[in-house]
Amino acid sequence: MTTGRLDGRVALVTGAGSGIGRAIARRLAVDGARVLTVDRAGDVDRVADVTEAGINARLVAEAGSRFGGLDIIVACAGITGMQTLDGHSDEFFDTMMAVNVTAVFRLIRDALPLLKQSSHGRIILIGSVMSSFGEAGMAAYAASKHAVLGLTKSVAAEVGASGITVNCIQPGAIDTPMTAPAFTAMPAFKQRWIEKAALGRLGQPEDVADVAAFLASDDARFMSGHGVFVDGGATQRQ
Ligand SMILES: NC(=O)c1ccc[n+]([C@@H]2O[C@H](COP(=O)([O-])OP(=O)(O)OC[C@H]3O[C@@H](n4cnc5c(N)ncnc54)[C@H](O)[C@@H]3O)[C@@H](O)[C@H]2O)c1
Repeated sequence: MTTGRLDGRVALVTGAGSGIGRAIARRLAVDGARVLTVDRAGDVDRVADVTEAGINARLVAEAGSRFGGLDIIVACAGITGMQTLDGHSDEFFDTMMAVNVTAVFRLIRDALPLLKQSSHGRIILIGSVMSSFGEAGMAAYAASKHAVLGLTKSVAAEVGASGITVNCIQPGAIDTPMTAPAFTAMPAFKQRWIEKAALGRLGQPEDVADVAAFLASDDARFMSGHGVFVDGGATQRQ
């Protein structure tokens, strides 16, 4: 059964093999969208590494030919990593930027021609609380996620005339395979995030997916260029 909110819409979701991306793909489908799921691993329609040259254009073409158009892109594929500057290699930084920024930029650019043909074009990027804040050991990740918010604001200004909205979800600590190793290895780190959140818990992928579905829907038609925190209130308290 679907809610029907996204009936007739076509979505492409990267990072859909795990965690937040998988929950978003499922939620968009529940709302009626036809979804092309992409990841380099996992149970998805299309296994692909989003950093590969030319891949984003091919994925967009595939969604278009399979479903007859494209209305929504969700760029969720991402990596993280903690590294202090003394141990920071060029490769560590470059890989972070390649996945979290360059691939997102290319997906947006390559999807635009089809999104412009839609009357409900939506670009949903997945940033982080670290799109607005920093943390020791997180220079590369925070730089990459600040860039995602920068893309959001600039692309929103550029494509608004085509009726396309662009927004960036900024999750706090969400319980996914990305965070599980750190939370298991450092229980105090996990506890700190739980206590930081006004709601007193980690987020679940579905907490983020429901906001993505809202941004994809007509209910969010006049929202664009924003970072939307989904962090249980973690960042907005003293
Ligand atoms: N979990 C959190 O607490 C949290 C907080 C803020 C932001 N985020 C962001 O949310 C997004 C999803 O993270 P998650 O927590 O669901 O992690 P996850 O590891 O469960 O999912 C990320 C997915 O991206 C895929 N991926 C990574 N590199 C790829 C590549 N080159 N090509 C194709 N797919 C690739 C992985 O295979 C994986 O399935 C990421 O952008 C992450 O930075 C997560």
